[in-house]
Amino acid sequence: MPTVYFHTLDDTDVLSLQLNDNESLLDGILRSGIDVPFGCKSGVCQSCLMQSNDTIPQTAQLGLRQTQIEQGFFMSCCCLPEDGFRAHMTKPKSDFVTAKVLEKELLNQDIYRIRVEKVVDYRPGQFATLWSSNGVARSYSFASHPQEDDFIEFHIKKIENGAFSQWAWNNLEQSHTLEIQGPLGDCFYTESDMNQTLLMCGIGTGLAPLYGILRDALISGHKGKITLYLGGRNSTNLYFMDNLKTLAEKFNNFSFECFVQEVVLDNQSANIQQGDIYQEVKRAYPNLEDTKVFLCGADSFVKKMKKQCFLSGASMKDISSDAFIAFKKD
Ligand code: FES
Repeated sequence: MPTVYFHTLDDTDVLSLQLNDNESLLDGILRSGIDVPFGCKSGVCQSCLMQSNDTIPQTAQLGLRQTQIEQGFFMSCCCLPEDGFRAHMTKPKSDFVTAKVLEKELLNQDIYRIRVEKVVDYRPGQFATLWSSNGVARSYSFASHPQEDDFIEFHIKKIENGAFSQWAWNNLEQSHTLEIQGPLGDCFYTESDMNQTLLMCGIGTGLAPLYGILRDALISGHKGKITLYLGGRNSTNLYFMDNLKTLAEKFNNFSFECFVQEVVLDNQSANIQQGDIYQEVKRAYPNLEDTKVFLCGADSFVKKMKKQCFLSGASMKDISSDAFIAFKKD
């Protein structure tokens, strides 16, 4: 039976407690009479997030974003820790902000956007955790720009039986409120070398953080060439084509191309062609030395692209990524 240590928010109290066999950290803390947030108790809602600098059991981080994992976040309801494990309480509920919903609109057949009041400051490309009224939490990237837009925008993919995406689509209406926690993440543009070539690759709602990063680079006056590659199953999976075309017309150093698996019809955009984004990057960018790379989308896509970009010479410090990891119950 492991003994573990639970640090309260300001570290003024450290609770030492002995967990029963197969008892989760969350259950042990609740059993001791400490009131901590929780919801599903099954690794879905993320409401029981805590942090630790110790070795975290893998099962306690399934479904978290890579940046959360790197910051030592884990779900206490799925955590069966080793003896001596130390856990820290994360931000309290009072640090959440409430935002009024301004708009909800479909962007393609299965992705919709939600615009809410600008209630937090953020870097384009970061993400926030959104909470439903029934305690389900999911992380979504900021697709808006804090200086250019007077709203915050998130792109949400409708997932069949998805606990948050279906709740938000079915229940959130204009003037309803949403709790937001964040921002988090370190995948964003920095003005370190304004002449550096930027390569951005994404699939699905990976476009949300990339669109924010792209606008940030362009608005900051980035001089180097910027190329955005988007991938999808077919052209109906893509969205924001007009927004991207407008940017490409306005900024000479920006271009974008989309690669879809299915045959492309003649009347579809000139920017869309049949192909594989991974193969295209491999072919078009054999040497990525001195190129800054941004990769956003499904975890498997990001991992594969990251490896390829590294093999093509991109330095790991020049690869920024945001991997979306699917929830086991979504
Ligand atoms: S209570 Fe832990 S993920 Fe929901």
